[in-house]
Amino acid sequence: MKKHVFETPQLVAEAFGDYLMTQLSKVDRYHCALSGGSTPKLLFSYLAKKYHDSPLWNRLHLYWGDERCVPPEHEDSNFKMTNQLLLSQVSIPVGNIHRIKGEEEPSNEAISYAEILIRSMPLDTNVPVFDLIILGLGEDGHTASIFPHQMELLDSKRFCEVATHPDSGQNRITLTGQVINAAKEVSFLVTGAGKADKVDEILEQKGDWKKYPASHIKPLSGNLNWYLDESAANHSL
Ligand code: 6PG
Repeated sequence: MKKHVFETPQLVAEAFGDYLMTQLSKVDRYHCALSGGSTPKLLFSYLAKKYHDSPLWNRLHLYWGDERCVPPEHEDSNFKMTNQLLLSQVSIPVGNIHRIKGEEEPSNEAISYAEILIRSMPLDTNVPVFDLIILGLGEDGHTASIFPHQMELLDSKRFCEVATHPDSGQNRITLTGQVINAAKEVSFLVTGAGKADKVDEILEQKGDWKKYPASHIKPLSGNLNWYLDESAANHSL
C-alpha cells in the first residue's frame, strides 16, 4: 500500500489526473472503473480542462464501481455527474462508456453488468481484471456500494450485486470484493477532515477497522494506493 498525500483536494485531483493520463499513454486499451459521490468531481473537472483535446481518450474504457438505481438523468446518478463534468467535455468513444443502467430492475442489471465486464476485459481465473479501479471512502467506512451492514458483498461469488444504502434504503449496483481485489491497481481518492478518523483506523488497522468494507480492499496485485489531502491524512488535526 502506498500513501500519496497532497495539501489540498485540488492538488490530489491534479496529481491523480496526470497519473491516469500517463497510464493511458502506455497502453492501447485501459479498463477503468470510476467512483461516484462528490470526491471525484474535482478530478473529472481537471481532466476535462487540462486534457480536453487529448488523443488518448479513445484508449479508455470506462465503467463504474457502483451506481445508484435511478435513471441516468436523476440527480443521484453517478453517470449523470460524470457525464456533466467529463464525458460531455472529452472525446471518449460512446462504445467505450459502459454505464450501469440504474433505471433497470436491479437484480437483472447486476447480472447484465457482470456479463459486460466478462465480455469487455481480460479475465484471470474467470474474473474480470480492471487496469484501475478508483474508489471513494464513506464516513462509515463503505466503499463502492459495499456498506458495513452488507459485508457479505465483499466475498460474493458474483462480480456485481444489488446493495442497499443503510439510511435511505436506496438500491445500488456495486462491484463486489472479488472483482475489486482482482484489479491490477486500486486507488482510493479520499479528501476532507470528515474522513480522517476512518482513514487512520483503516491504514493503521486499529479500532473498528475490521468492520469497514474499505479495510478489506487488498488487491491481489499488491498495487493499492491511497490519494489523500492533508485533512484526510492527519486525523489528529
Ligand atoms: C457513491 C460512491 C461512494 C462514494 C463514497 C464517498 O456512489 O456514492 O461510489 O462509494 O465514493 O460514499 O462519497 P463522497 O466522495 O461524496 O464523500
